[in-house]
Amino acid sequence: MKNKLKAAYNPDAFRENGHRMIDLLVDYLEEVRHGTQKVMDWKEPDEQYEFWKNYNPGHNDPVAFLKDVIEKSIHIHNPRYMGHQVSAPAPVTALADMVSALLNNGMAIYEMGPVSSALEKWIIGQFAGRLGFGKNGDGLLTSGGTLGMLTALLAARQVKGGGNIWEEGNPGNLAVLIPEESHYSVERAARIMGFGSKGIIKIPADENYRMQTSVLESYLDKAHKEGKKVIAVTANACSTATGTYDNLNEIGSFCRKHDLWFHVDGAHGGAAIFSEKYKHLLDGIHLADSVTIDLHKMLMTPALATALIFRNKSDSYATFNQQARYLLNETSEEQWYDYAKRTMECTKVMISVKFYALVHTYDFEIFDQNVTTLYDLAKTFAETVKNRPAFELAVEPESNIVCFRILAENEMKNNKLNSAIRQRLLEEGDFYIVQTVLKGEVFLRVTIMNPLTEERYFKELLDKIEMVAKTFELT
Ligand SMILES: Cc1ncc(COP(=O)(O)O)c(C=O)c1O
Repeated sequence: MKNKLKAAYNPDAFRENGHRMIDLLVDYLEEVRHGTQKVMDWKEPDEQYEFWKNYNPGHNDPVAFLKDVIEKSIHIHNPRYMGHQVSAPAPVTALADMVSALLNNGMAIYEMGPVSSALEKWIIGQFAGRLGFGKNGDGLLTSGGTLGMLTALLAARQVKGGGNIWEEGNPGNLAVLIPEESHYSVERAARIMGFGSKGIIKIPADENYRMQTSVLESYLDKAHKEGKKVIAVTANACSTATGTYDNLNEIGSFCRKHDLWFHVDGAHGGAAIFSEKYKHLLDGIHLADSVTIDLHKMLMTPALATALIFRNKSDSYATFNQQARYLLNETSEEQWYDYAKRTMECTKVMISVKFYALVHTYDFEIFDQNVTTLYDLAKTFAETVKNRPAFELAVEPESNIVCFRILAENEMKNNKLNSAIRQRLLEEGDFYIVQTVLKGEVFLRVTIMNPLTEERYFKELLDKIEMVAKTFELT
């Protein structure tokens, strides 16, 4: 064997590097969890690129390289990380991911992923049961909420679009009703499917950023008069910007009445199904035809990992092969185990293994604890904001997403001030939060993703924002 290949496949080298790597990661977790370090050592993109372009530590040690990767990354496990909606993964999931990476079972067909296929079926069954779909529910795991949304809408088109779209293509008049406050992946999916602007009908939000269900009938009526064929309605559970839950009972009933596909985008907030305290937010989800839930957001799993669950088993097989719909009846399962027939992916990572490792070790109760803790923390944060006169809360939080802003004291406009503060926080790295625009106004946005984030950090964050605001107002 050639020397490089011999070295690359040497189990002893792997053992040695593996032990060093685990020690490094344990030290990292110990250090980062106390929030004494920066969340990120911010570098402009070009500067970051220069560093890696010229990267030459002078040795071939993979652990040294990975140490540099850790140092220069954003630290999601830092309790001062309160930014975008990705989980601080439970460490056991990283062990499972390492095994998956090494085994690299490609999953397209059963024999290329026997374990992960079986675990995937079991996991989907667990979700289906909790969503109220009973034994007839089915679905799959896929790489992200965006892909999950596209897959769900493709199924909707196949089932409600009429004709033989798979063979003949789009008739050109298909449309979906979506909340004004949708994540951009909904619109993107509809555009990929060729619906164009005319096929994306946005239902306005009320003052709490919730879909106005009272106008659904009139919007549908108007679409029909314009010759459009509406196939589906999507709902947020919860929305990305403010974390608001749409009224799933009302939207679901509307869909039933008009024979429309009902998709619930639960990428972020669908995980509340596991929380005894907050699952009421998802009342009506049993009416959905399909639901997406990201495991890599609220369910402590590393990206990418999304569950797409269908109420009717047969719909799960409809997406990429309309023939299967006619071959299957409601109860039979044809080749559940060859997942490539039902997913966008051909080769697929063993998503089920990392999620199952978590469930196997801590049971589903861990998700109740995580979701409930994070949603409770957001309420505490909102109270802290309300108790400080310099700040304004955009809307009472329903989930772990909170939008707020500091009010400008001088002529400097609120939008400019809050954007400048967010940029300064990014550059200084003590906290990581993001910003969003609500009804044309810039708000700072916090998503509490890490159960190690404690109340004291909220006060520190608001103190910091006030301090930064003063520096801007002096200049
Ligand atoms: C409501 C909602 N839907 C979909 C997505 C997209 O999910 P992903 O990032 O897994 O593709 C997001 C991501 O933030 C989201 O908040």
